Amino acid sequence: MNESSVSRIVDYPDEPTALLQQLLDAVRNHQPESQIYMNLATIDDEFTVLNRTVLYRGISVDKCVIYATQRFTRNYKNIKANAKCAVTILMPVVSLPSQGSTPFLWQVRLLGATAVELPESELDAWWNRESLSAKIRDTIFPCGQPVDYDELKAKHDQFLKEYRASGKPLQRPPTFTAFKFEVQRYDFLKVGLNQIADRVQYRRQECGHWQAMHVAT
Ligand SMILES: Cc1cc2nc3c(=O)[nH]c(=O)nc-3n(C[C@H](O)[C@H](O)[C@H](O)COP(=O)(O)O)c2cc1C
Repeated sequence: MNESSVSRIVDYPDEPTALLQQLLDAVRNHQPESQIYMNLATIDDEFTVLNRTVLYRGISVDKCVIYATQRFTRNYKNIKANAKCAVTILMPVVSLPSQGSTPFLWQVRLLGATAVELPESELDAWWNRESLSAKIRDTIFPCGQPVDYDELKAKHDQFLKEYRASGKPLQRPPTFTAFKFEVQRYDFLKVGLNQIADRVQYRRQECGHWQAMHVAT
């Protein structure tokens, strides 16, 4: 293989979350049932830095990326102790018509992200979007505790049966919560096979506007 070319991001919007939304729409046009995952790193007093995969939930009305969690997780405790986070979102195959006909890999990175917990008044809306399996886990599974599989499975099946018989929606447990990320910079990196990636970085200005520029990778 003796190929090399340089990737180029063209026609990008003024707002970073608008570009993120374009990428998400392109992924879902191609695969409607697909989920988007984020890598979330937090500051941890035992391991210094700790990361994990979390599910991308959406964008808030004030244009911040959202994720949901449980108040008994380590990521929640970490964020409450130090709200600074690092987040990446990897989309391995994106066919975005404005970027050419072939699919590209994209990475979105949130730099200098501060996690802000949403007020109680906004949590039901995010709870209502959760899958049934996630709602059941959040309601009856003891996250982080050693468990007996058969007991847990029986508990799950019984709960599911009662839920279906009741015909009532599952109430949000007090442990469920969600955060939005207030971000200093967004990186959008686009690359194809045998290419050198292009990267567009959005930098938040003091006035609140975004300045976008190509940055070498
Ligand atoms: C595909 C996938 C999606 C996940 N989504 C979430 C999520 O949205 N929120 C969350 O708190 N944990 C999520 N988890 C679990 C975390 O990766 C992690 O295991 C959990 O938060 C406990 O880690 P912690 O103790 O560092 O918080 C997900 C795991 C996987 C594999």
